[in-house]
Amino acid sequence: MGKCPECDAWDALEETFASNDAHRPKVLSANGGNPTVDTDLPALPVSQIPDMQTPRMATGLAEFDRVIGGGVVPGAAILLGGDPGIGKSTLLLQVGQQLAAQGLKVLYVSSEESAPQTRLRATRLGASSDNLLVYAQTNIDKIGEQIQKLRPHLCIVDSVQLIYQDANHSAPGSVSQLKDCCTNLVYLAKASGTAVCLVGHVTKRGLLAGPKLIEHIVDTVLYFEGDSYHDHRIVRCIKNRFGSTLEVGLFRMTAGGLEVVDDAASLLIQAGAGSPPGSVLTACLQGSRVLPVEIQALTAESALGAARRKAAGCDPNRLAMMIAVLEKHAEFRLLDKDVFVNAVGGMKVTDPAVDAAMALAIAGSHLRRGLSAGTVVVGEIGLLGEFRPVASLAQRINEVCRLGYKHLVTGPIRSAADRQAVDSVQGRLTVHVCKNIDAALRLLG
Ligand code: TYD
Ligand code: MG
Repeated sequence: MGKCPECDAWDALEETFASNDAHRPKVLSANGGNPTVDTDLPALPVSQIPDMQTPRMATGLAEFDRVIGGGVVPGAAILLGGDPGIGKSTLLLQVGQQLAAQGLKVLYVSSEESAPQTRLRATRLGASSDNLLVYAQTNIDKIGEQIQKLRPHLCIVDSVQLIYQDANHSAPGSVSQLKDCCTNLVYLAKASGTAVCLVGHVTKRGLLAGPKLIEHIVDTVLYFEGDSYHDHRIVRCIKNRFGSTLEVGLFRMTAGGLEVVDDAASLLIQAGAGSPPGSVLTACLQGSRVLPVEIQALTAESALGAARRKAAGCDPNRLAMMIAVLEKHAEFRLLDKDVFVNAVGGMKVTDPAVDAAMALAIAGSHLRRGLSAGTVVVGEIGLLGEFRPVASLAQRINEVCRLGYKHLVTGPIRSAADRQAVDSVQGRLTVHVCKNIDAALRLLG
């Protein structure tokens, strides 16, 4: 039209595009999710951006608080993944109860279990606070309505694989449903200030449509480790926008739910571990703390000609490397041997400082010789068979000493802080410095 029908002006019409804002949830306000603040802040110098006012909500479950970086941040989106039956619902119901007992409002959306089923579990866990609301629902729009209405501090969605959006015609748990529902929930969290905690099963069919798919959408990603045949559980943080380190939390599954484990050594290390041939103790850095781990190895005659190399809880590539290093630099013949390595206790060890323990465990099993009792081995091994410096050696030395071990085998000590730590434990812990794997192998009795 050349002439505006409203004001009769000529040539006054301009082309604009309809915004689809109506469908898009309001997002990311400047003060950490408080929607009352103007979201259209201009670009500002970083020092002038208003602080996040709202403090973290500490649950009081020490190990859970540790993994999420001190407490639940209002408006944060947390994803908890893990195998079915590992204890996700149990943990979150306990977290919900802890927060509810502090007077915070918690909405527990159960999409897998009926409300009476959830109640049964809650009764067993002693979760009976009036601030803990249970809502059995699978429709994302209805869940959104409840969040808007109740304005809880924390909303737990257990699990995201069963919720669906009406507008999306694919089946619940499918890739597009999962993406849509999770994006919606995360937007809702940012806009309302309600922290959301999403549960995702690791699916048998692989990682498709599993928690991996939504990792990038959320702020914090936690994974349950361990298996349902042991009573201890490890919750590992693999991404955290609200924490400085990626921590692990240790729990024990009991008849009354998950218990926090204060003494990691007693949980992970059995009496006598570390001295029989094929068993070596190491001290792994997990987030900000040092955990003792027992590495076991077994070498056995290979029957089929094609030797098998299997690693449980350790990196199979590093296992292959250690075997090659032993063959090349220590003249071991492992070509016709099956080699199995296991990090005892269901722990997944990614710290390269486990190398030396792995090599000594394999060598010990092969030669049928063990280290002297109370020995801990820490060191990354290079391709030339040399010990390479490891991160936070001082911290490891102090922890190994505190746990009462008598010997530490490690590589050359480089930094002043590490040297100071060695001096400070003199008399209580003997530090054996090895230049290369050969020197370490001589310690096998
Ligand atoms: P659950 O939290 O249902 O696992 P997920 O939600 O990850 O699928 O818990 C699974 C197992 O935990 C269940 O098989 C029984 C056990 N359990 C206990 O040992 N003690 C308890 O107090 C509870 C609630 C569960
Ligand atoms: Mg469950």
